[in-house]
Amino acid sequence: MAQRPGVVHLEIGQPDFPTPAHIAAAAARAAEAGKTGYTPNAGLPELREALRVMLREENGVAVTTEQIIVTIGAMGALYASQQSVLEPGDQLLVPDPGYPNYRMAAELCGAEAVPYPLVAADGYQPDLDALAAAVSPRTKAIMVASPSNPTGTVLRRDRLERIVELAERHDLYLISDECYEKIVFDGRHVSPAGLGAGDRCFTVGSFSKSYAMTGWRIGYVACPKPIAPLLVKLQEATVACAPVLSQHAALAALAGPQDCVAGMVGAYRERRDLACDLLERAGLCRYRPEGAFYLLVDLPGRVEDTYAYARRLLRQADVAVAPGETFGAGGQGRVRISLATAPDQLREGLRRLIAFAAVRPAAPIEAQPTSSA
Ligand SMILES: Cc1ncc(COP(=O)(O)O)c(C=O)c1O
Repeated sequence: MAQRPGVVHLEIGQPDFPTPAHIAAAAARAAEAGKTGYTPNAGLPELREALRVMLREENGVAVTTEQIIVTIGAMGALYASQQSVLEPGDQLLVPDPGYPNYRMAAELCGAEAVPYPLVAADGYQPDLDALAAAVSPRTKAIMVASPSNPTGTVLRRDRLERIVELAERHDLYLISDECYEKIVFDGRHVSPAGLGAGDRCFTVGSFSKSYAMTGWRIGYVACPKPIAPLLVKLQEATVACAPVLSQHAALAALAGPQDCVAGMVGAYRERRDLACDLLERAGLCRYRPEGAFYLLVDLPGRVEDTYAYARRLLRQADVAVAPGETFGAGGQGRVRISLATAPDQLREGLRRLIAFAAVRPAAPIEAQPTSSA
């Protein structure tokens, strides 16, 4: 059904830009030069060194090259990080609403993901009291994500400082998902590892979003020193190494001009403003995402089942969105839209969504007649 012509796609979480040409060209050159074998488990030394310099200069994170492991996307980094510290029965505190893969990876480790709430009325910043209350003797680590999927929230420095203090007080690891770090419109991206949490923090990054490289599957993690040998072994046991051509592409991304990133961020910012203006006027959004390329839309009335709502929206109004409940209980009564959509499509999709919301306020969604589409 998603392939039906005429559907406006606001559900997809990947850049709608091509990978910048100089990055793709670097991979092609590497292939032509026969650089097609395995790399060391932890990645090409020159890429790890470039990441070390970037982390120090842009994130204020001081790590050695040995602490940096190049992975298969941020997903590879998140999973390996969780694997390296979570034992069966441990608990991982995860943001709610948040990226569902945190929970899925925890479950693969035999651990339990325990949600902590982000507060809609506070622009989806974390409720720090609730977070502290969620710590139990079984808690091993806290997941933080900034900028966030699905909210686009950039965590404020004072909140992160309090989270770092909490982790120190209870001797917990922090796994920080920073894969949207370069897509920030307002405020500043802060890495918790740069706030004195370096010895307990995993800093997870990715080339997928910043450089429009989702299919290249290339990311990284800077981990606590004692964990690094284990992460290297995990790479050997699971994937050997990240794809070599993607590693050459990543190196070119870091070494090359950054105006391609600025151009994409500028486009996302304009779309954020366009979407917020339209949704605010319709009473469907009460905050402005400061980063990433997502926005949580408040559905009117009491929508019990956002999966059913999204299905109806697709069938009856030809707009695809992500159901809020995908991201946890905090997504109830909401849907996520992606701003990685051309402005004319975004405007049309929102026009349909707003019209749909206006005529179907609090009605029980599943009870409505379906169209033949
Ligand atoms: C918050 C978050 N973390 C991690 C990822 C995974 O990114 P990658 O493509 O680098 O594996 C995504 C992808 O959508 C994401 O939204």
